[in-house]
Amino acid sequence: MCGIVGAWLNEPGDGGVQALLVEGLRCLEYRGYDSSGLGIIQPDELIVRRRQGRLAKLESLLAESGDAPALLGIGHTRWATHGEPSDGNAHPHQDAGRRVALVHNGIIENYLDLRHEVEAAGIELQSATDTEVLTQIIGIELSKGSEPLEAVRSCLERVRGNYAIALVTREPKERLICARQGPPLCIAQSERGVFLASDVMALLPYTRQITFLEDGDIAELTRSKVSIIRLNGERVERAPRQVDWDAESADKQGYAHFMLKEIHEQPDVLARAFHGRIDVERGDVQLEGDSFSDAALSKMQRLQVTACGTALHAGYIAGYMVEGLARVPVDVDYASEFRYRNPKLSEGTYALGISQSGETADTLEALRLAIRLGAHGTCIVNSISSSMVRDCQGMISIEAGPEIGVASTKAFVAMLVASYLLAIRTARARGTVTAEAASQLLRDLRELRPKLSTLLSDERVAKVRAIAEHVVDSKGFLFLGRGINYPVALEGALKLKEISYVHAEGYPAGEMKHGPIALIEPGMTTLALAPKGRLAEKLRSNIEQVKARGGRVICVGSDPGCHAVSDEGLAVPDTNEWLSPILNVVPLQLLSYFIAELKGCDIDKPRNLAKSVTVE
Ligand code: M6R
Repeated sequence: MCGIVGAWLNEPGDGGVQALLVEGLRCLEYRGYDSSGLGIIQPDELIVRRRQGRLAKLESLLAESGDAPALLGIGHTRWATHGEPSDGNAHPHQDAGRRVALVHNGIIENYLDLRHEVEAAGIELQSATDTEVLTQIIGIELSKGSEPLEAVRSCLERVRGNYAIALVTREPKERLICARQGPPLCIAQSERGVFLASDVMALLPYTRQITFLEDGDIAELTRSKVSIIRLNGERVERAPRQVDWDAESADKQGYAHFMLKEIHEQPDVLARAFHGRIDVERGDVQLEGDSFSDAALSKMQRLQVTACGTALHAGYIAGYMVEGLARVPVDVDYASEFRYRNPKLSEGTYALGISQSGETADTLEALRLAIRLGAHGTCIVNSISSSMVRDCQGMISIEAGPEIGVASTKAFVAMLVASYLLAIRTARARGTVTAEAASQLLRDLRELRPKLSTLLSDERVAKVRAIAEHVVDSKGFLFLGRGINYPVALEGALKLKEISYVHAEGYPAGEMKHGPIALIEPGMTTLALAPKGRLAEKLRSNIEQVKARGGRVICVGSDPGCHAVSDEGLAVPDTNEWLSPILNVVPLQLLSYFIAELKGCDIDKPRNLAKSVTVE
């Protein structure tokens, strides 16, 4: 939800700070892409350039403007919350005296009160955003003679809501300041200058030593030092941390889209997610931290999973695994529902948040609530420097590397591996699975990588593309699955909806006859998830029911019986029931990718979406 960058260079170099800020925004465009802008300090003026639309529009504007290379500036890529996407609502916003330009990620909840305050001071607001009020209040403080850092602090003291902000001031002195209350912000210092960004990916070209701001921090950055204070003015130190992700992973490396590249990375991602964690001989899993010790896990009475979107689908699958293998009762909830339903948690509850970003506002708040209610907080995350990791006592990192495509693919597969490891570890701690049985489960996991690679061979991918061509004009899509593959049906439908903008629903196959079957008619496509095993025959009957009503069925899975009665099929290698979602989801990811491509959709940046949802 909006990307923020800022920099103060020692030397202008090629293109000055403008060029670096644009490069930073390119890295962060996944966070929002309905408009973008820069605020630049020139020796005697503050220049703001902003444009509705993709970053390329801003680049054209910058090229036309011909501004001299500068040293100090901020930039923003927007996902609109208050005020439509337009040039006027794009960030940065400036105060009436043009002393300050500010960018913001988040929502200012009391912005209407603050707006009245600004209007009462005789200032006419220029935009419909909640952000501009902050800029104007800081401008008012500066005009009264406050130092920039104090002006920001006293403004933020009055703010209720969620924000990461960055601002530059021209008067009374040049300053680069940022603050965090919710959405992430990190800072880097190198021999080229000082930098800030919403995501470490934008800072990796300069250094791997990154300082992460905490909620309530306000940082003042000069070229020689970074000073951090709390909202109450108290000074604090935040030591930089070494980040191991590399900048190249944020490159498409020859693929047409990040989504396709990330789908193809999945065999490696899968292997990384269990590397160094499984002991096949002993039949056990090593997970770091006391939360996953025998003593702690044997006291677990219940698991409460909360997550959003694709991570929630991984959460449902985690639920099947933990309940099935470790025999622990599990509840899985939309984070946005859990946090508002006055939940009652029993003693011995483990709360498990699942999130790629570790910054999803609803998941964070749901976890915090569960922890306040006495649960032991744990998470499965990709971004180990995220707020979620800081909030939890236990963490399993999925090691998927940066995921840039807005549609989550490789993170989903890695979340499933992490969930499988958690389920086996819990089962071993509680003695519900023998060492021999666990050994076999881990051998199955180790054998999954070549199977996943098969699904990504040129021939298999071409087959998915051919099917995409057959079904691209379908009236609608129904995804059916049973048991642990029901959440895969939900995920297949979500992928298709979000990047192709076609209507798709995921359903438990057995539930179809209670309503959705009314949708079946010629022109409607059903995807049936059909792994071999105890539920295959049941699914076969569901396929027959769709066929009997003129629907087209595409079978995805390893069961020959289901393939035999379907119109078309995408064969998937066999594995154990718990791991079947990891294989079955791949053809669905590819199918939605190719349908989106055939429809000419913007695959990596689907309309109305953003990668990291840091607002409610
Ligand atoms: O960063 P998170 O995993 O917490 O994100 C959760 C959802 O916003 C995310 O999975 C979203 O549904 C994706 N666009 C799905 O592809």
